[in-house]
Amino acid sequence: MKSLMLPIAAVALLGASLEVAAGNPARGQQIAAQVCAACHGDDGNLVLAPDYPKLGGQHADYLVFALKAYRSGDRDNAVMAPFARDLSDQDIRDLAAWFSRQDSYLVDMPSSRRR
Ligand code: HEC
Repeated sequence: MKSLMLPIAAVALLGASLEVAAGNPARGQQIAAQVCAACHGDDGNLVLAPDYPKLGGQHADYLVFALKAYRSGDRDNAVMAPFARDLSDQDIRDLAAWFSRQDSYLVDMPSSRRR
């Protein structure tokens, strides 16, 4: 029995560490509910204004990229940037894990609005 338990424990541990590296959606949900929901909705799909971006179903790597850009000032937006400023790398990964797992209502931009 012991010889079987060890590999199982090792796999469980590996799973847990991969989860952290990829972001923890449950923790992301908590931050989203407290900080982001007012403008983006709990699941990233109920936006406060039509020009506020939907986050639900967005690619996790893009969400990480965008949040880091607001945090560093590379993306300078007076409304959004203050909410990214205090996020840690782990917060960002967790938020990306949460929003990327939600239903997606993302659509291609109409050709009339493309530059
Ligand atoms: C007060 C309203 C408000 C709050 C609160 C807010 N955001 Fe935003 N967010 C915006 C607006 C407005 C934009 C669009 C800014 C722009 O045009 O660059 C935006 C843009 C974004 C983008 C870029 C999306 C894209 O498609 O490029 C991400 C990602 C994002 N917000 C995540 C978050 C997260 C995560 C939180 C919570 C930690 C949060 N926002 C809190 C208003 C808000």
